[in-house]
Amino acid sequence: MEINTLENDTGKVVRVLLVDDEERFRQAIARRLERRHMIVSQVPDGASCLEYLSTHEADVVVLDMKMPGMSGMETFEAVNKYHPGLQVIFLTGNAGITDGVEGIRAGAFDYLAKPVEIDHLAGKIRQAWELKRLEAARERDKIFRRRLEKRMIHTQRLASLGTMSTGIAHEINNPLAIIKESAGFMRTVLADSDQIPEKKMLFKGLDKIEKSVDRAGRITHQLLGYVRKHGRDLTPVDIRQLTEDTVVLIKQKTQAKKVSVKWDTKPGHPMRMYTDPFQVRQVLINLLENAVDAVEPGGRIRLSLYRKDEAVCLEVRDNGSGITPENIEKIFDPFFTTKPNVPENESGTGLGLFVVHKIMAALSGSIQVESEPGQGALFTICLPEWHPE
Ligand SMILES: Nc1ncnc2c1ncn2[C@@H]1O[C@H](COP(=O)(O)OP(=O)(O)OP(=O)(O)O)[C@@H](O)[C@H]1O
Ligand SMILES: [Mg+2]
Repeated sequence: MEINTLENDTGKVVRVLLVDDEERFRQAIARRLERRHMIVSQVPDGASCLEYLSTHEADVVVLDMKMPGMSGMETFEAVNKYHPGLQVIFLTGNAGITDGVEGIRAGAFDYLAKPVEIDHLAGKIRQAWELKRLEAARERDKIFRRRLEKRMIHTQRLASLGTMSTGIAHEINNPLAIIKESAGFMRTVLADSDQIPEKKMLFKGLDKIEKSVDRAGRITHQLLGYVRKHGRDLTPVDIRQLTEDTVVLIKQKTQAKKVSVKWDTKPGHPMRMYTDPFQVRQVLINLLENAVDAVEPGGRIRLSLYRKDEAVCLEVRDNGSGITPENIEKIFDPFFTTKPNVPENESGTGLGLFVVHKIMAALSGSIQVESEPGQGALFTICLPEWHPE
């Protein structure tokens, strides 16, 4: 006789829970199923079946319909409710065929009449197990697709917000320049005149106007993301060199907080991206500034470079506060910030990562983030590699 092994592709074996009040019958069936390479657990009634399932895993339940206490049907309903992925095969007496049909209607996998032909039962168990795995795979697929769809909607939303924000930033730049110029003019007139009362108050007001205009200017500047008027300029960019130059640019900020910025990967052959250096520099500034903001004084930022498929990837890792799972969904949204919004402060507009996302999409690159609260954060950007002709 052929041994009916039920090992699946990962080497696991089907786990059967046998629920029947006749002990000798149970023992005999269990022994024979075990000989067919199944893991069989046994319980004598419905209540112990539920108790067993609350602490153990099983794949298929073989359930006697007629049991003292909780009936097979009642047990089935509870199993179905609390362990919806489980498959159930009913065992009925010869006279209980209508019960079996009722069981299938209620959602059981199948029913078999006693006395049971063991290979028939083993075959049914295997089929039920396959169905269970298929349904689990479908469920995983559904969740994966839902997540993908959500991410795509998010990316599309960010892309259209990106286009709109660039337009608005352009429009706002002109009136901002006029306000700034007029404030400057009023300051000169005020300084030259002796007859204007409340001069001090007026200067204060002008200060506020100028500071706010500067902040608004920083926002539009950020939103324009160094997009050059004549389109993007793609050239081979030595990313290690560009990163090092950018680290020098933000030196003031790192030194003020005594933050170290070091490479984890040794310099080797230059790794070249085919990209726009001005926009990538903007991305690097935003990522590095965020890392500096996130760490404690004396904190560490680590950089690594590697090739992956047809891309060059740069990792920016910090040992700062990390990001909560709830916030990680929102960090690329415009104006999402956890930083105090102080008008004079350069930080805290919540546009940094929005702009990073926008630039990466425009440059056919990608950005990923991994983080846990208290464990720092890792941002990875990948851009197409440049190949010399
Ligand atoms: N490396 C990081 N570690 C921890 N949190 C981070 C990190 N990078 C970003 N964040 C979180 O993401 C939020 C959004 O970042 P983003 O750069 O878009 O705006 P911001 O830094 O708050 O403001 P701005 O960039 O204008 O200074 C931050 O407020 C912070 O909560
Ligand atoms: Mg930022």
